[in-house]
Amino acid sequence: MRILAIETSCDDTGVTIFKGKGSARSAFFEILLNLVSSQTIHAKYGGVFPAMAKQEHIKNLPLLTEFALKKIKGKIDAIAVTSGPGLEPCLWSGIVFAKELAEKWKVPLIPVNHMEGHIFSVFAKAKGKFKINLPKSKFPMLALLVSGGHTELVLVKDLGKYEIIGKTLDDAAGEAYDKVARMLGLDYPGGVKISKLAEEARKEKLISNFSFPRPMLKSPNLNFSFAGLKTSVLYALRAVEKLDEETKKKVALEFENAVVETLVYKTAKAVETHKVKQIILAGGVAANKHLKREMQKIFGKERVLFPEKILTGDNALMIGVIGYLRFLQNKKKVLKKDKIKAEGNLEL
Ligand code: KG4
Ligand code: ZN
Repeated sequence: MRILAIETSCDDTGVTIFKGKGSARSAFFEILLNLVSSQTIHAKYGGVFPAMAKQEHIKNLPLLTEFALKKIKGKIDAIAVTSGPGLEPCLWSGIVFAKELAEKWKVPLIPVNHMEGHIFSVFAKAKGKFKINLPKSKFPMLALLVSGGHTELVLVKDLGKYEIIGKTLDDAAGEAYDKVARMLGLDYPGGVKISKLAEEARKEKLISNFSFPRPMLKSPNLNFSFAGLKTSVLYALRAVEKLDEETKKKVALEFENAVVETLVYKTAKAVETHKVKQIILAGGVAANKHLKREMQKIFGKERVLFPEKILTGDNALMIGVIGYLRFLQNKKKVLKKDKIKAEGNLEL
């Protein structure tokens, strides 16, 4: 089958086409094309404006899709599209576009949960051919999902069976990164810029004179909270007379250490209580080098899976991969196209 997948949940417009065959527990993929257009328009505003992002998707989608279809020359057998969670106007732009094509071509439309896409992004390759084997014996797994909108610990009991065992009570980890970046005068999305400063501080062996809290470490549950940490950074910065490059690096270092320590500690706690076979680290913040390193240090290289860097951020390939696997699993239960709608708060 040839699958077209579309992702528009936030500020990245993703379009991909791949060939798929096999079964839900053992499937082969051959990527024909994988396109992502990241909207840079939001950088100067310090965040994503849904109405503006939607307009960009509406402009980008036909361009990317037309280009992709011309390149692959051939028909599409099914379409996968993100239906949530995300910014509803953005989600709708993808859904409306996908519905029109699915109706025109008379092919199934598969709604996909964006977070489920992130989880399974660890099994995909960004290029060429790959196989995904998901026998029952591989489960349960534990996923730490860290993105701009989510910070969740998910018990992955089987394909399609998830339980959220911990989540943030306020800001997501990526959101905290972006807000602290803004306090340091860095453009949106600031996560990658903060982590670069923190890495430089480590290389230069700078000692941070800042001390930020490790939120919720003492709480008995697996939940997170990053709002207080963000406020601590704000107060500390108010006391700073000159925010020079070195001070920024020291703030970034201590902030990143606090976030990563918290994430790793709670993941370890979850691993203690749930006998999981593999640990998945996914979502935009999974691009963070320090987080990857610490996860590997604590749980072992073999045990932690994370996506190829290019697949950590939002992309249509992860949507297509899980959409196709779930389609193979539930072929008989494909939703009617008019039942598919955007759900900003869709849960796993
Ligand atoms: O998954 P994603 O692309 O979009 C959402 O679904 O939210 O995640 C984007 C988030 C942003 O908050 C961005 O700042 C953060 O991921 N991010 C990072 C890094 N790269 C991206 N945070 C920390 N370190 C990074 N290297
Ligand atoms: Zn995402």
